[in-house]
Amino acid sequence: MEFFVDTADLDQIRESYAWGIVDGVTTNPSLIKKAVEKLRKDGSSLGIPEYIENILRVAQGDPVSLEVIGLTAEEMYSQAMTLYERFNPIAENVVIKIPVNPNMGDNPEHAFDGLSTIARLAEAGIPVNTTLIFTPEQALLAAKAGAAYVSPFAGRVDDDLRKMAGETFDKTDYYPADGVEGRDDNGIESGVDLVARCVEIMEIHGFETQVLAASLRNPRQVRECALVGSHVATIPFNVLSAMAEHKKTVEGMKAFTADIVPEYAQIFE
Ligand code: G3P
Repeated sequence: MEFFVDTADLDQIRESYAWGIVDGVTTNPSLIKKAVEKLRKDGSSLGIPEYIENILRVAQGDPVSLEVIGLTAEEMYSQAMTLYERFNPIAENVVIKIPVNPNMGDNPEHAFDGLSTIARLAEAGIPVNTTLIFTPEQALLAAKAGAAYVSPFAGRVDDDLRKMAGETFDKTDYYPADGVEGRDDNGIESGVDLVARCVEIMEIHGFETQVLAASLRNPRQVRECALVGSHVATIPFNVLSAMAEHKKTVEGMKAFTADIVPEYAQIFE
């Protein structure tokens, strides 16, 4: 299973790469916005293109997803080519992120523009990460179009299910804590369940498309994505950090450290 770090924050990318467990990076316009706000707050005048180039270099040739902002096939294809031509030469690791369906409610005539763009890019040999996947059906369509990755948004599925159930919750809560009741949920019980169904479809039909579990909010979701065979998980920095923690590990470290006898310590001097 591969781990991508879900952030555009260069400090977080550098630090998580130093941990030796990261295989790629995913960004989106919201993550870029956050990173640029931090950059400006720190007084840096570095431009976004140069900042992206730094991300590509830090990722050491591992895939880095960069998202288009257009809403039509024409715009998305041309933006994908702009991103690819400008940034892929830096480290040969650009993956283009395309929404599965760019319809924002008032442009239903463009509902299939994401898929047709994916097909065009795949034909040109450009890897695509399909974003905003909320149903296994959307994952299936993206795989048919030739996407390299499909990104089911596990955390946001849970947000939606909990909202329908009238529950209050913290962003980092695992869901469902105690199972689910009947609901208008398209047969998807949780975010992790969506990931599992996407994995099953790719495997049953032998698609090369990899399932990239996204919108992960806590370590338990990552564990369960691993257990259902997700090929990749893109993990926010805070969740990646939390995965190494346990109170008994701290307790054990304190006890082992307290027991170090001078004769043993001398070996390392
Ligand atoms: O990978 C997609 C991710 O960045 C969205 O996360 O927590 O905003 O749903 P979230």
